[in-house]
Amino acid sequence: MLTSSGAALGTFYAAGLTAAEIETANLDPNWAASGLSTGSPIPLRHKSIPGFLSEKQLAIHHTSHYGGALRGYSALDDSLQSETAFASDALGAMLRSRVSKANSVILHEIYFARLADRANKPQGDLAAMIRKRFGSFDKWEADFIAAGKSAAGWALLVHHPVNGKLYNVASDEHAVSVLWMASPLVAMDTYEHAFYVDYENRKAEYIEKFVEHVDWEAVQSGSI
Ligand SMILES: [Fe+2]
Repeated sequence: MLTSSGAALGTFYAAGLTAAEIETANLDPNWAASGLSTGSPIPLRHKSIPGFLSEKQLAIHHTSHYGGALRGYSALDDSLQSETAFASDALGAMLRSRVSKANSVILHEIYFARLADRANKPQGDLAAMIRKRFGSFDKWEADFIAAGKSAAGWALLVHHPVNGKLYNVASDEHAVSVLWMASPLVAMDTYEHAFYVDYENRKAEYIEKFVEHVDWEAVQSGSI
């Protein structure tokens, strides 16, 4: 169980975790680099993706929006850890904002880490799960694109551990329409900040290119 204070845990991670330390702390090694643990953003995997996202688009998104969410989360978490005398309205707003910002951090980490610089498709078990649930990869893709066009925040492919099913989910504000216990596999950011530098108001064009740039190997491995 994690019983360390946020500050102590942050220091621990900043110094670098060994495999033994990750195991002792009962952490998912795929997530040891998350900003929620380290307090620092994960560096961009791709500086640019030619034909999809420019260096300027990715840099602004990574620094201002992912980085901003992490800074906001950390500030709120510190306040909620160190102070107790909040009025109930203020406390409620802070609790909700912390969840929204933590979700934003997690989803941005999946988004950036699971972008591919070349087209590829799921293989093996994951491909079979998609076919079983959606009928075919193309049907999943069409459903996911439609979910993305309807979302003001995120379109997600998630896996539910309770029934083993995959779902496409549209979630706004990082925290609306969350499917409890489900794990996001693919996270498509549909906020304007994710595409406006490169696509202006052509959201559909961005979405249709996104689905060609999912790194399905990274999805399968669960890595960020
Ligand atoms: Fe974003």
